[in-house]
This record gives sequence, C-alpha cells and structure tokens, in this order.
Amino acid sequence: MAGIGYGKAILFGEHFVVYGMPGIAASIELNTTCTYEEKVSGGITANDLVTGETINYGEDKAKKLDQVIQVILRETGIKEKNFRLKLETNMSLMGGMGSSAALGVSILRCLNKEFSLGIDDKRINEITFEVEKVFHSSPSGIDNTVSTFGGMLWFKKGQKNTVEQLGIPEPVRIVLIDTGTINDTAELIAKVRKQKEENQKEFEKIFASYSELALKARKEVENARWEKVGSLMNKNQELLRRIGVSSSQLEKIIEASLESGALGAKLTGAGVGGNAIALTPEKELQEKVSKKCSALGFKTFKVTAGIKP
Ligand code: MEV
Repeated sequence: MAGIGYGKAILFGEHFVVYGMPGIAASIELNTTCTYEEKVSGGITANDLVTGETINYGEDKAKKLDQVIQVILRETGIKEKNFRLKLETNMSLMGGMGSSAALGVSILRCLNKEFSLGIDDKRINEITFEVEKVFHSSPSGIDNTVSTFGGMLWFKKGQKNTVEQLGIPEPVRIVLIDTGTINDTAELIAKVRKQKEENQKEFEKIFASYSELALKARKEVENARWEKVGSLMNKNQELLRRIGVSSSQLEKIIEASLESGALGAKLTGAGVGGNAIALTPEKELQEKVSKKCSALGFKTFKVTAGIKP
C-alpha cells in the first residue's frame, strides 16, 4: 500500500512564521510516495522518479532518515521492523518545497493503511512535526501543516497554532524555480536569529512591516486579486533580503521572472539556495516564465498552488 505527502510553496512569511507572525502556504501537486514492501529486512530504499536515480539525501540527511524512522515507529507504536519502505519523489530536494514534511506525511499515510493504525490527519500532522524537528531542529510547523491538510492555508504558530483555509476559487498557477543549490533550514533559522539579536531595532521595523503586509496579503489572496498578491510578494521579498536570506542566484531568478511578466516573485522556503516562486495565473505566462528561467539553466516546475489532496 502507498501513502502520499504533498509539497508546498510559501507565498508569504517564511522565517517570519518562526517568530509567531502569520504566513500563507499552499500545497502543490509535486509529492513523495511511500510504498510498503513486505517481509524484507533492511532499511528504506529511496528512488527518485524524476532522474531515475536513488534520491541523494546526502550523508547527513541519510543519517536523519534513520532517525525519522525511529521517531515514526516510536510515535505510532509499530513493533514490526521486518519491512522496507520505498520512497519516490518528483520534488526538488534542494529546499523550499517542503520535501521533509512530504516525506513524513507519505510514510505515515502508508503505515497508517498498512498497519490499520486509525490515526487521523491531526495526529499525522503532530507526528510529522516531530519528523520536521529531526531535519530542522526548531521549525514553525508550517510545512507539516500544509503537507497534511493541503489547500491555501493561513498559518500562525502559537500555544495552539492557528490554521485556516483561505477560500480561493481554484488553485493558482505558479512556477517553482530551483537554484540547484541545497539549503539547510536549521542553519538559516539560526542565522536569522543571530542577525535579529545583533540588529534588534532594524528587525523590529522589518517585523512590523511584515505583519502589516501579511494582513493585506490575506485579503488579496482570499479575493484572488493576483496582481495585488504579486506586488505584495515582491514586497515580502524585499523584507527577506533585509533579513539576509536571499542570494545572487535567487535574485537572478526573480529578476528574470519579473522581466517575463510574473506578477510577483520571491524566494520560497528557507532561502539562500533552494527554490524561488513566481506567480503566473495565466497558462501562457506560466509557460513564458518557465521558459525564460530554463534558458538561464535553472530547473523549473509548472504547478498549481492550493490543491486539496
Ligand atoms: C521553511 O519552509 C520555512 C521556514 O520559515 C522554517 C519554518 O517555518 O519552519 C524557513
């Protein structure tokens, strides 16, 4: 039996959500599938659908993959160890698409079916948050939440997280553009925290600007006023630059996307490497932006944001 975990794109609020400000994230059709294989001893095999090669999680991440399995077995109470899980993905593993959250959700959904665990989405979300901690040490919870529930979500971390579905008429077309450089979310969260401690006054101003922007963004997203959403995404990118998580590669992608007519473009996820997002509601525009970024040598993904799994 198989389980699917969907990827995500953050339209607003990466890093700011770590400090309790609201963010807007959407699920996308790119996903990770986990399939149960019976009666074989051994670990997990990983197989990348796109390249046909084994997913390269890198030595560090492969070690974490073992920890992830331990967390999942502990939290679900599964005693059986004599099985293998096959993982396949069509997502970028460079960062920004929520691949670690999708991994957790896919494994949990698969084991839930296989062992008739009867766990609901709320519990899948909670356990995937534990998985996220293995990868990112102090995540906000936005990635596991959007991977579990899908849609276009308003997320705010708190004693109890606020999670609301923003009603959009239909998923919106975007392009995700891969810098090809892997990022480390835990490291970048720590970097931003350090910058914040060293530049308190500047960060207070940035946080105030972002909080105001997020409320405006919510209204525009709910009304599917994509031109306005795009222009707010550009403003969000300006704030992300100021907290030090952009890079020359991301800027090159953003510039090319905007020149091709994208309504807005910014980094998505932890930044520095990873992926960028360009807002392109029309099919032709999506094609145009994707072509331009591909011509510059970047891998692109034409997807829609806000799908319900
Ligand atoms: C990563 O997708 C988003 C960050 O804000 C980290 C988090 O919220 O856990 C950078």
